[in-house]
Amino acid sequence: MRLLRLLVLLLVLPAYAQQGGMWIPSLLKGMNEKEMKSLGMKMSASDIYDVNHSSLKDAVPQFNGGCTSEVISSRGLLLTNHHCGFGEIQSHSTVEHDYLANGFWAMSLAEELPNPDLEVTFIVRIEDVTTQVLEGVASLTNEKDKQKKIQENISRLTNTLPKESWQGNSIRTFYEGNQYMRFVTETFEDVRLVGAPPSSIGKFGSDTDNWVWPRHTGDFSLFRIYAGKDNKPAKYSKDNVPYVPKHYFPVSIGGVKEDDFTMVFGYPGRTTEYLPAVAVEQIVNSLNPAKIEVRDAALKVADGFMRKDQAIKIQYAAKYAQIANYWKKWIGETQGLKKSNAVAIKKANEKDFLARVAKAGKQAEYGNLLADFEKNYNEIAPYALARDYFTEVVLRNTELLTTAYRLYQLEQIYNARGEQSFNDRRDNTILGLEEIYKNFNKNVDEKVFEQLIALYAAKSPKQFQPEILKGADLKAMTSEIYGSSKLTSYEGVKELLKGDAKTVIARLNEDKGYKLVKALTDAYNTNVAPKYDEINLRITGLQRTYMKGILELSPKDARIFPDANSTLRVTYGKVDGYQPKDATYYGPVTYLDGVMEKYIPGDYEFDVPQKLIDLYNKKDYGRYGENGKMPVCFIGTNHTTGGNSGSPAIDAKGNLIGLNFDRVWEGTMSDIYYDPSICRNIMVDMRYVLFIIEKYAGAKHLVDEMKVVTK
Ligand code: ARG
Ligand code: GLU
Repeated sequence: MRLLRLLVLLLVLPAYAQQGGMWIPSLLKGMNEKEMKSLGMKMSASDIYDVNHSSLKDAVPQFNGGCTSEVISSRGLLLTNHHCGFGEIQSHSTVEHDYLANGFWAMSLAEELPNPDLEVTFIVRIEDVTTQVLEGVASLTNEKDKQKKIQENISRLTNTLPKESWQGNSIRTFYEGNQYMRFVTETFEDVRLVGAPPSSIGKFGSDTDNWVWPRHTGDFSLFRIYAGKDNKPAKYSKDNVPYVPKHYFPVSIGGVKEDDFTMVFGYPGRTTEYLPAVAVEQIVNSLNPAKIEVRDAALKVADGFMRKDQAIKIQYAAKYAQIANYWKKWIGETQGLKKSNAVAIKKANEKDFLARVAKAGKQAEYGNLLADFEKNYNEIAPYALARDYFTEVVLRNTELLTTAYRLYQLEQIYNARGEQSFNDRRDNTILGLEEIYKNFNKNVDEKVFEQLIALYAAKSPKQFQPEILKGADLKAMTSEIYGSSKLTSYEGVKELLKGDAKTVIARLNEDKGYKLVKALTDAYNTNVAPKYDEINLRITGLQRTYMKGILELSPKDARIFPDANSTLRVTYGKVDGYQPKDATYYGPVTYLDGVMEKYIPGDYEFDVPQKLIDLYNKKDYGRYGENGKMPVCFIGTNHTTGGNSGSPAIDAKGNLIGLNFDRVWEGTMSDIYYDPSICRNIMVDMRYVLFIIEKYAGAKHLVDEMKVVTK
């Protein structure tokens, strides 16, 4: 059986071998152009990235630091995901005008809504600055000194490399410290909300369908970039005018079919594709299961309350979605790493690597690497686990603890920097906490605490835990804290923080919730953090050397791409279905019929708006339908990750055919191990986007503003 599977794998592999990877747009010419053309691309590398002429990159800004977006008209119309614009849509919503529930459509420029905290950033050009960044580093022997020197060089270069006054400079590392690139950027701060479908379209399927194919979500929203009269970035002003982009995407309603070339252009956040097997083993067997168990408990508690109480459901909706998103991803990732035998494959690759090291006579440089990894990962194991427990329990999922932690930072600031800093930080903290407490429910949090503190005491490495947890009656501790702590209400916190620093700190130290967090944090800072940082620094150094070795010694045609680092990347592949399990094949395109199959009237995840049902019943799809059916989403072999949300999916000629928003369940491990046979990205078909704008929302003026092409 095993052998057969391996054989099948080997036979299947060559067809897929040419896929995966997130490539640097300025280096496509040498590295990828030929392959992209062989997959069907009709453009040249310089159509995608060019410094002297406009190119596709001029239409792909990063959206608010975490997502991607694309310009789709000559007047700065901007497309991204519904889940990327969620915060803005929510912030304009009130009970009377609930844009999350009902959608929002500006019928003229005057109706577009400003967003004070939103910005988008374009890449003007990319330059290799490796030599400058590594100046004076080679002669240093100690990893800490090297890092320090590199940081100094980076800050100096960031401040001094030439650029226009309205532009920004940022320098990022590629290939784990083996290459450095400088990005000249332009950031626009006046970005207004133009349109959003109701959540029953934009978030259709919600958490149940999240990370899952077949998918039927119209995950898009529209914004517009505004500029000063000179077309340059400008602070918000009602006198600003729509930005005239250097390039914008024509929108194709020509449709997609299996095997079509696709390319996704965007800002993938973080991947770790070159970890040694021992690190992946640790993620699969220890770290992911721990994080999943903590979130599992927190989510179950919240879900129980949300199902019974409408007010709590609204309060916890966004938090729940956020916690659930990575909880679910880690589950899929762990399963996928196991099923694809990632650890065994990595081990085999490491053997090959060592053989090449020996053959090249480079034992002195690379011979001990893998043994050193083994040693350091074994050493870091309990610290890494303790760190994840601290992060998940104290910093993320128990709100009373998270709040207490922020107050403890106040005390630390006072000790380090005195009264003035304390006062400034206190004002900020009070302001920030108002939002938090709006969506805080003491009963929910108490139950979450009870569960999570029990997990912490039982499963976080005991040798690092504070005295206060040892042999403690955790049930009694829970009711004591939630019965007496001032941290269970916003009023209580404000009261705690009244007065001069000394008084506040004395009062804080009487509070039972505060005392617990102080004990947990002190234990963590003393017993875990220093050692973790020390070992991790060594691992960083090893990873850099390992990457260097891989670059140096791999076969000429090996596809070695740099890990994602939130910079602009190109990934490409084909529209393609996949086989998630035995005897099951998933086709690459979904249709509105599938929305209706999932329809559950009144359900918070699977309700469908009446107007959409009417359009479906009449098959009123206009020019967007295909053989009487309305396409909704499609998948491809593009290698994407978090941050690629909102990225344009581009056809062979450079037209926009889709909008990236997720990955398929069986392939969520692609951040660590990309298996081309089952890793797929999920995109909304642009025909569905235009159909919703024109037919559902009646905002045809927005479609008229675009350049719609049919091929
Ligand atoms: N999984 C997608 C991405 O990571 C979509 C997330 C949208 N949130 C949700 N809970 N459905 O971010
Ligand atoms: N939904 C993800 C995001 O917000 C993109 C999907 C992925 O992680 O592949 O960026």
